[in-house]
Amino acid sequence: MTEFKGLDILDGAQFSRDDIDCILQVADDFNHRLETEHSLDLLRGYVLGTLFFEPSTRTRLSFETAMHRLGGSVVGFSSAESTSTAKGETLSDTIRTVDQYVDLIAMRHPAIGSASLAASVAAAPVLNGGDGAGQHPTQALLDAYTIQRERGQLDGTTLVLCGDLKNGRTVHSGVEIYKHFNCRLVFVSPDTLRMPAEILDGLKTWGIDYGETTDLAAAIQDADVLYMTRIQKERFADPAEYERRQGTYLRSRELIERVNPRLTVMHPLPRVNEIAADVDELQGAAYFRQARNGVCVRMALMALVAGKV
Ligand code: NCD
Repeated sequence: MTEFKGLDILDGAQFSRDDIDCILQVADDFNHRLETEHSLDLLRGYVLGTLFFEPSTRTRLSFETAMHRLGGSVVGFSSAESTSTAKGETLSDTIRTVDQYVDLIAMRHPAIGSASLAASVAAAPVLNGGDGAGQHPTQALLDAYTIQRERGQLDGTTLVLCGDLKNGRTVHSGVEIYKHFNCRLVFVSPDTLRMPAEILDGLKTWGIDYGETTDLAAAIQDADVLYMTRIQKERFADPAEYERRQGTYLRSRELIERVNPRLTVMHPLPRVNEIAADVDELQGAAYFRQARNGVCVRMALMALVAGKV
């Protein structure tokens, strides 16, 4: 198993099955402890820097909540405009500076590869909270944890990943996790927003059973989980192209109840209009529980890379 102490968390492909099992086990342990304790005090005195150059609600706030619940504290920013980036400072210089102040760095940035760049100049472990259309490994781990909790196990489940598979970083990291659990993967997207070829090639090499379709109703029929994603508006150069794709897979409660009422419905959020509000009342609507799970998974990751578990 990988030595976690000091490790940068950069992409979904860096983990072995043992690594993932370990992270999810620690997260589950923390989750149970949080039922009776408000703070675990494992990282008392530690400071997390949250450097968010792109908008975020869940990722930033759950990282911050996770650090507070571990007994540590947080400094950071939630938009590039309020930082010296606006004066022309390079990412590398910003990271080198923050590295002088904090013990751990959680970062989100619009450029693919930015988290790796940060990790190459920072002594503190860097946790990638999303690098453009690249990777979002902490989200993928909390998604995996959510499937385990909702379905009892992740091994051998059938997962339908739907929406903007080209630009969606959560699904890019997700498949790197699911491939260790022999999941059957069905990708549903408009033709122009398919899962990138190099990721599909990787799945073939790994021997994973996957399919691609544009027919969501057929795909969810015998699935365990529907993982919806937002069309990633901010990655479209042409607004008209976004408007054409937006709303392609509008999900109604009626469809789910008719085709597969036991389906678990997940979404990294924010949703725009991919899931109708009345789906929220279904027992299988797991997206807000999924957001909650993010706290204990990020607690586990930070405690592990700090060498405290
Ligand atoms: C996702 C992201 O930022 O990649 N959100 C999240 O972290 N929960 C998904 C999205 O923005 O569509």
